[in-house]
Amino acid sequence: MADFLLPKNSRYVDGKIFSSPEGTKNTRTVKVYRWNPETPNKQPSIDTFEIDQDSCGPMVLDALNKIKDEIDTTLTFRRSCREGVCGSCAMNIDGTNTLACTQAMSDIDGDIKIYPLPHMPVLKDLVPDLTHAYAQYASIEPYLKVESPAPTGRERLQSKEDRAKLDGLWECILCFCCTTSCPSYWWNGDRYLGPAVLLQASRWIEDSRDEATGERLDNLEDPFRLYRCHTIMNCTNTCPKGLNPAKQIIETKLKLQARRG
Ligand code: SF4
Ligand code: SF4
Ligand code: FES
Repeated sequence: MADFLLPKNSRYVDGKIFSSPEGTKNTRTVKVYRWNPETPNKQPSIDTFEIDQDSCGPMVLDALNKIKDEIDTTLTFRRSCREGVCGSCAMNIDGTNTLACTQAMSDIDGDIKIYPLPHMPVLKDLVPDLTHAYAQYASIEPYLKVESPAPTGRERLQSKEDRAKLDGLWECILCFCCTTSCPSYWWNGDRYLGPAVLLQASRWIEDSRDEATGERLDNLEDPFRLYRCHTIMNCTNTCPKGLNPAKQIIETKLKLQARRG
């Protein structure tokens, strides 16, 4: 008979419980996914940390830092800027892919549940392996491509109108919250580029200074790389920077259609 259960090493079990210190008045419970590659046969677990919110900053990242600093130094997660700019603290919080540093604990009801970004291999605890996603990003050649010689004594200029076409694109911080919320990427991520990389591809297609637009569109004209997007919109709903990758994917499809005439 078919077995529809996840493999044993993909199912998690209850982990350790770290109770709040005696006398804590403002306790908040944080449940965190744990997995350690050094004990690969051990199932992932959900550890429970009770923290004193009165001695903690307001964001989920503050809670994780507090846990790492004061309770369990082995807890592993990425972070850098702590202000929504670097994209490294992306994780699944309370069922939504978002940035730990801009997610206020006060906006979450009940226990705070934290998992790594979904459908990515896990390196350790909350750290997903983004090797494949970054290889896909490299494949769209995310830099200005020009044949014509650079003007002497000044930059390659753009009109204000052309510069405005990059708004809604340049703000992307490559956190991959969108890509890892996309069902098409879950099932076809080996070949489908996903919304983050497609938004980045648009950023160069739309750039008036770039001279490789045709080549860039050729690179996307593929049933998997671009056309696996079925406009399900999870990507746009989850983007912590308020961007709209789904709309941008439609714009790219329209450009390809217009080119066919
Ligand atoms: S709109 Fe496209 S890219 Fe966005 S979640 Fe849906 S299928 Fe994925
Ligand atoms: S489009 Fe938004 S969710 Fe996707 S990678 Fe960029 S900033 Fe992150
Ligand atoms: S730490 Fe940089 S976006 Fe959160």
